[in-house]
Amino acid sequence: RITPVILSGGSGTRLWPLSRTGRPKQLLSLTHEETMLQLTARRTTGARFAAPIVVANAAHADEIEVQLDAAGIADARLILEPAARNTAPAIALAAVEAEPDALLLVMPSDHVIADVDAFHAAIERAVPLVEDGWLVTFGITPTAPETGYGYINRGMEIAPGVNRVKRFVEKPDRGTAQHYVATGHYSWNGGIFLFTAGAYLAALDEFAPDMAEAARTAIGAARRDGHQIHPEAHAFGRSPSDSIDYAVMEKAERVAVVPVDMGWSDVGSWDALHELAPKDEANNAHHGAVIAIDTNNCLIRSEGPLVAAVGVQDVIVIATHDAVLVLPRGDSQQVKRAVEALKRDG
Ligand code: GDD
Ligand code: MG
Repeated sequence: RITPVILSGGSGTRLWPLSRTGRPKQLLSLTHEETMLQLTARRTTGARFAAPIVVANAAHADEIEVQLDAAGIADARLILEPAARNTAPAIALAAVEAEPDALLLVMPSDHVIADVDAFHAAIERAVPLVEDGWLVTFGITPTAPETGYGYINRGMEIAPGVNRVKRFVEKPDRGTAQHYVATGHYSWNGGIFLFTAGAYLAALDEFAPDMAEAARTAIGAARRDGHQIHPEAHAFGRSPSDSIDYAVMEKAERVAVVPVDMGWSDVGSWDALHELAPKDEANNAHHGAVIAIDTNNCLIRSEGPLVAAVGVQDVIVIATHDAVLVLPRGDSQQVKRAVEALKRDG
C-alpha cells in the first residue's frame, strides 16, 4: 500500500485577501464546496492507499482535524511542525515516521487534479521503479514559460510511460523557461513525488545530512498525543531550511518522471481560479452574495458583503469581511504588490 504524505504548511499570499496566515490556501474552498486539503485527502483513499500522514504547521492542527473528519478521512497521522523549514525537512519528518520500505506519495495540499483516474494510473506506472529505489516525480506539459515551477528535462524512456530525468531545474528565470518550453523536451514539475522513505532519507543523508539528522532526532524525541505527533522543537529548529526541489531533486542521480495529463493546476492566482471555476453564460465566475448585471468575464467572490457589479468587464473582485481586492483580469499576480504594501505600511 502507498502512504499519502500531504504537505499543508504553506502560507500563500497570491490569493490574498482570502488566504491569510491563519487561513492559508489549502484550508479554503476555492474550486468546490470542499477545501483544497479535503479534495487532496479524498484523492488517495481506497484499498491501494494507507491512512495519510499530514505534515502541517502546528497552528493549523485544529482546523485540519475538523476538515479531515468532515471529509471522512479517519486514522490520519498529523505531524505538527513547531516551525516552518520548507518542504525537504517536512518530508523528512514523514519519512522517518514511516517504515523504511514504505512507498510515500508526497502531495501538496493546494492543487487541483481534475482527472483522478489518470493520476492513479500514473502512480502505478511509477511503482516498479520506486520499489527499485528511484525518486519519481510527475510531469505536466508546460503551457507558458512560468517561472514559479520546476522544469524537468526528459531523457530516455526507462519503463512504459516513465522517463529518466536528465536535469531538474527549479524555478528558472524567464528567458531560460522560454527556451525550455520551446524545445518541447521539458515538463513542469507537478510538485508530487513518489519514493520509498528509505530512498528519500538516503538522498538527504548524501545531500543534506544536517536535515536528515534533525528529522531523526526530532521524531525520535517527539511527543505523541493520539494520532498527533509533535516533533521535538529544538532538534527540528536546528534543521536547515530548503525545498525538496533544491535540496534533493536537482542533485539526485536516479530520478524519473512520469509525464501525465490529469487536469493539473496549482491554482496559483485569481486568474487561474477564474479559468477553473464554473462560469455563467457571460463567462463570470461568482461565489457568495454577488449580483452581476451587464457584466462579463469577471471573477467576483464575496465572503460577506453583497457585491453588485454593473457594466464591468474583465475584473476580479474579492470581498472578505475586512478587505476588498479589485484587479484587472489577466494581471492577478500583481496582488503581491498589495501584500507588499501592507507589510511595508503595517
Ligand atoms: N508541512 C509543510 N511545511 N508544508 C510546506 C512547507 C513547510 O514548511 N512549505 C511549503 N509546504 C507545502 C505547501 O503548502 C504546498 O502544499 C507544498 O508544500 C509546496 O510548497 P510551495 O511553497 O507551494 O512550493 P512551490 O509552489 O513554490 O514549488 C513547488 O511546486 C511547484 C508546482 O506547484 C515545487 O515543487 C516546484 O518544482 C513545482 O513546479
Ligand atoms: Mg505551490
